[in-house]
Amino acid sequence: MIPPMGNDPIVLVQAWLEEARAVAGEPHAMTLATATPDGRPSARVVLLRGLDERGLAFFTNRTSRKGHELGENPRAAIAIHWWELGRQVRAEGAVEEVSAEESSAYWATRPRGSRIAAWASPQSQALGDRDELERRVAEVAERFGDEDVPLPTFWGGYRLVPDAVELWTHRDDRLHDRLRYVREGDGWRVERLAP
Ligand SMILES: Cc1cc2nc3c(=O)[nH]c(=O)nc-3n(C[C@H](O)[C@H](O)[C@H](O)COP(=O)(O)O)c2cc1C
Repeated sequence: MIPPMGNDPIVLVQAWLEEARAVAGEPHAMTLATATPDGRPSARVVLLRGLDERGLAFFTNRTSRKGHELGENPRAAIAIHWWELGRQVRAEGAVEEVSAEESSAYWATRPRGSRIAAWASPQSQALGDRDELERRVAEVAERFGDEDVPLPTFWGGYRLVPDAVELWTHRDDRLHDRLRYVREGDGWRVERLAP
């Protein structure tokens, strides 16, 4: 079903995500594209961990490749594909760091093993071998013992604040529906794009 023209795309994507939760293997997987200041792009999959009027939130290591690229060029684009629903969402815009409180709140929901992994893995850096990673994990686990594993200063959330959102719906005749919502003042202008 094509959503009615003129609606808020965030609300529409929330509704699509809700439907995807019922059918998709990993409904929150989204491809995130960042770029260096001179425009060399890179893309990877991250999990969509927050979606509201402020934008789309995800969490990662701030010293990772994506973290460095976002530090130097705070703009990004995402694409989410729900094959089971024949739907794609695209969004692009500025990226900001989420507050420390928000990162802490999400960190608190992560299993202990994931927290230890976040401390142990110098994300995106070259490792000598697999053993080096295992050693780092063992060291971190020993360091924290039975204590709480705190939020690292190098880890946290980002929020993509979209200035454009596209909702794409598959059609068997290949004449897919594409509605692009462009932020305009307090609202959104919607246009239909050719498939
Ligand atoms: C389904 C899936 C979900 C993922 N979710 C995350 C995530 O939420 N955060 C993250 O940092 N990496 C996540 N990853 C790993 C990233 O794809 C990537 O390998 C990692 O973040 C390093 O990317 P970078 O070197 O470009 O910074 C996920 C991978 C997959 C396949």
